[in-house]
Amino acid sequence: MAAFVVQGGKRLEGEHTLQGAKNSALPILAATVATKSVCVIRHCPRLTDVDATLRILRHLGCAVHREGSDVTVDASTLCEDTIPAALMREMRSSIIFLGPLLSATGRAVLTAPGGCEIGLRPIDLHLEAMEALGVEVKAQGGALRCSAGKGLRGARVSLSFPSVGATENLMIAAATAQGITVLTNAAREPEIYDLAAFLNRCGARIHGAGEGVLVIEGVERLHGAAHRVIPDRIAAVTFLGAAAITGGELLLQNVSLEHMDAALSVLEQGGCRLRRFGKDRLELKMSARLRHFPTVRTMPYPGFPTDAQAAVMALACVAQGTSIITETIFENRFKHVNELVRMGAHIRVEGRVAVVEGIRRLRGAAVDACDLRAGAALVVAGLAAEGETVVSGARHVDRGCERLEEDLARLGASIRREEEKDERQKET
Ligand code: UD1
Repeated sequence: MAAFVVQGGKRLEGEHTLQGAKNSALPILAATVATKSVCVIRHCPRLTDVDATLRILRHLGCAVHREGSDVTVDASTLCEDTIPAALMREMRSSIIFLGPLLSATGRAVLTAPGGCEIGLRPIDLHLEAMEALGVEVKAQGGALRCSAGKGLRGARVSLSFPSVGATENLMIAAATAQGITVLTNAAREPEIYDLAAFLNRCGARIHGAGEGVLVIEGVERLHGAAHRVIPDRIAAVTFLGAAAITGGELLLQNVSLEHMDAALSVLEQGGCRLRRFGKDRLELKMSARLRHFPTVRTMPYPGFPTDAQAAVMALACVAQGTSIITETIFENRFKHVNELVRMGAHIRVEGRVAVVEGIRRLRGAAVDACDLRAGAALVVAGLAAEGETVVSGARHVDRGCERLEEDLARLGASIRREEEKDERQKET
């Protein structure tokens, strides 16, 4: 398995242009199925999760063509409604094909999705939302057989938690349901807004995206469209964190500043000096040691994103003072804590709360990227550690960060990717 090898202590400085958002690109690519037409999705990041999504699209019979960051999907040749277990297991987001398949074919046969090991990640809310639209769900031999025999019908649905994925599945399925769907307690993440914008370009009538109550007037059919994916707000935090922890300077280009209030205000609390230029450029300058983060609490958007929690914890490890970080979204999202402790960090975890006592310097160690965001955070920690840090499990990071080591090296970091020994031996 590949690893990142980081020599800490190099100050980062320069410019970086952000990739398109993984969490927008995946549902939008899946939603192309519901159009049964040709769609062009621009600014698609080069990620293994995107590759997995394209493999599912091809398996379903769609023609997929990638040129640079543009992906063209021709879903007019769709001929499958079953996703085999091996493809489903490649990532958690494979469940996002449920709504599109039901919309396009009235059927979907899926197994439990895979993805990061950050907790149970059940799919009950997805299934309840589909059932409300008239879908019959049967569990049979490890597979979920879903069918909308009498067609999808609009309904009033209230989510017990504003799940991002369940909101997306419901939006896509309801777009072509008969009648009106009202979804209350919908997720409000920017990626929901982006998916609604794409679907509306395809002829859907979705109102209220980003506001918590979605009203979806079902239309007979969708048509193809072109759409540009919004910038990745989580990758933004990774790069800002990398610059901040090394006492560096960074100009971020292509940032959606309007989506980043909570994360930026946490960074400012930690002493990062930020200057915003227009709507999409941000400069970070560090002139002193990071200060502690008094209370960071992950919340659904517009709160502080759970996906940015690990990166901020890496900063807290070397900040002056004690930080309190509470994770409320996933029950098992402190896996990076043990790894940071191996690097000398002082962290105590009690339930969902981590108390981080900042120290002056972490020390390099061999650590494991147990999930995507944890892996990126360990790389960030390694940039400020004394000596060499080897972050194994680079493949987890590749799920969500486009060529992380190349971009960080361009900014002055000493980082390289290394295949592990037995893999190198296999190749030779
Ligand atoms: C999406 C993001 C992920 C982010 C998360 C929360 C994508 C591809 N992934 O994941 O990066 O961390 O939102 O912002 O967009 N839950 C249930 N039942 C369900 C569905 C969810 O109990 O049917 C629970 C989950 O276990 C979790 C919480 O709800 O504790 C949030 O999950 P959800 O918002 O659905 O996250 P994802 O869509 O999986």
